[in-house]
Amino acid sequence: MLILNKTAGVVFKTSKRKVHEFLQSFNFHPGTQFFHKIVLGIETSCDDTAAAVVDETGNVLGEAIHSQTQVHLKTGGIIPPVAQQLHRENIQRIVQEALSASRVSPGELSAIATTTKPGLALSLGVGLSFSLQLVDQLKKPFIPIHHMEAHALTIRLTNKVEFPFLVLLISGGHCLLALVQGVSDFLLLGKSLDIAPGDMLDKVARRLSLTKHPECSTMSGGKAIEHLAKQGNPFNFDIKPAMQRAKNCDFSFTGLQHIIDKIIMQKEKEEGVEKGHILSSAADIAATVQHTTACHIVKRTHRAILFCKQRDLLPQRNAVLVVSGGVASNLYIRRALEILTNATKCTLLCPPPRLCTDNGIMIA
Ligand code: KG4
Ligand code: ZN
Repeated sequence: MLILNKTAGVVFKTSKRKVHEFLQSFNFHPGTQFFHKIVLGIETSCDDTAAAVVDETGNVLGEAIHSQTQVHLKTGGIIPPVAQQLHRENIQRIVQEALSASRVSPGELSAIATTTKPGLALSLGVGLSFSLQLVDQLKKPFIPIHHMEAHALTIRLTNKVEFPFLVLLISGGHCLLALVQGVSDFLLLGKSLDIAPGDMLDKVARRLSLTKHPECSTMSGGKAIEHLAKQGNPFNFDIKPAMQRAKNCDFSFTGLQHIIDKIIMQKEKEEGVEKGHILSSAADIAATVQHTTACHIVKRTHRAILFCKQRDLLPQRNAVLVVSGGVASNLYIRRALEILTNATKCTLLCPPPRLCTDNGIMIA
């Protein structure tokens, strides 16, 4: 609650008039009887403005999302004030679209759930400010949501998964391994000591100038790396995996980023290519970074599976590993994790891509 108030105090700027106008635009149905509780979920922790209306049985009644990816691709990364401004410009429309699609009026909602942490303070503040105004005007309960817990629990919307299960969250902003023992009972087993894998892949893609590549100009960094890696050889460069001796389940990706930086500099010299232009060895470099990332993620996850099984924290057979986050949509990394789960008699589950990345449904 402390963080909630702090964040709200810094960026509480949505005007009351705006929210009032927004509410006026709906037709209320005061006589309608509802058998299910209905929650509006709002997500603005990073660069997606998202909202969804979900009932208590998990039915998604309406959803809307605005992605800022194309803007951030042009500026070469997320600039927090830019992300904040884009959230401000889109939040009302997105919430309105989600509610309209659900045919639920604001008065019929049982509660409003909003991401309050972790994330970019400026981005979080927009969703929070908008939600608190709605909560105030509608006199509805407010549910603060932990973004990572929402990611971890999303799988229960699509699959019947019993507690406990292991979750691996890998995206542009997250990298963690946790044992999920209950709805709000998490045991953190490992996290990145520096940057997240998606952040590293985005940086490598930028260094390779992949937005100038005709095949991947509109793709996120990670997706561009996956696309190009299909045409490359992952074994052209000899790279030692990170943290081979670390007896924990933590991750590290900056070392790999620096090694790849050096390789790119060396290749630019060899090929006589200036920084900012596409190397002929770009596909090999993409394949190498993808392969090394997959190996590192698999090794740290293997340690977590062994740790949990040795301590009877997970069942010996058919323990579930859930993998989510933007990087989880990478089929090479998924395949590597599938080899691990087959070898350790575990079951690998991934939410569908639209639920892997940030969305309003997971918050609702
Ligand atoms: O979960 P997400 O949409 O947002 C957060 O970071 O929370 O993940 C976005 C990240 C970006 O870093 C993007 O480059 C990466 O996921 N990503 C991928 C792929 N698609 C997106 N990384 C590897 N392979 C992909 N196919
Ligand atoms: Zn996320």
